[in-house]
Amino acid sequence: MRPDGGTGDDTTTGSLDDDLCVTDCTQCSRLVESRTQIVNGVGPTDASLVFVGEGPGATEDDEGAPFVGRSGTVLDDALGEAGLLREDVRITNSVRCRPPENRDPTSEELDNCRGYLASELAAVDPDAVVALGKVPAENLLGRSVAVTNEAGEVYDARVGETSHRVLVCVHPAATLYDGSQRETFASTIERAAELAGETDDDGSGQARLGDW
Ligand code: URA
Repeated sequence: MRPDGGTGDDTTTGSLDDDLCVTDCTQCSRLVESRTQIVNGVGPTDASLVFVGEGPGATEDDEGAPFVGRSGTVLDDALGEAGLLREDVRITNSVRCRPPENRDPTSEELDNCRGYLASELAAVDPDAVVALGKVPAENLLGRSVAVTNEAGEVYDARVGETSHRVLVCVHPAATLYDGSQRETFASTIERAAELAGETDDDGSGQARLGDW
């Protein structure tokens, strides 16, 4: 995918997932230095839910997949409690390269990466986009967000050429250093499952996988 989100090839025969992969990007010179590899989104390209984090951490940079470290375990557990499976949702990040010392991505880095995210969201066209933390919430909504106050709120937002329903959520890592965020995080993930209409009516909490 090109920085503007295009594939540059109308005759491409690869899968949509391949088209959504960034294989070579040198727009952010600082991140080119700090990354081991580009971390692309994972999960079905027709998922009902897309989770958007901030950017890869050390484990993600190592393994080449988003949310595979401690935050990922928190996310996976909450998904399970809401009757969802990680394999059935799409997970991606606001920037695809690890910022040095896990600092927040700069606004320039977020701008540079926005075309990739916009194309991914346009292609997947999910029922809801879950912003995991302040950085993705502000990146998607284009304004400052008080995440703790706004967690669980849903807003319509234009990202690139398409509009999406964005659910504000605290970052999973927040639950690790502030136990009071656990309930907020869990209930927001349950809200995401409701928005995707995936929770079974029998109250078993199991997702209807055939719907994915
Ligand atoms: N935190 C993020 O925001 N994204 C990841 O992929 C991992 C941790």
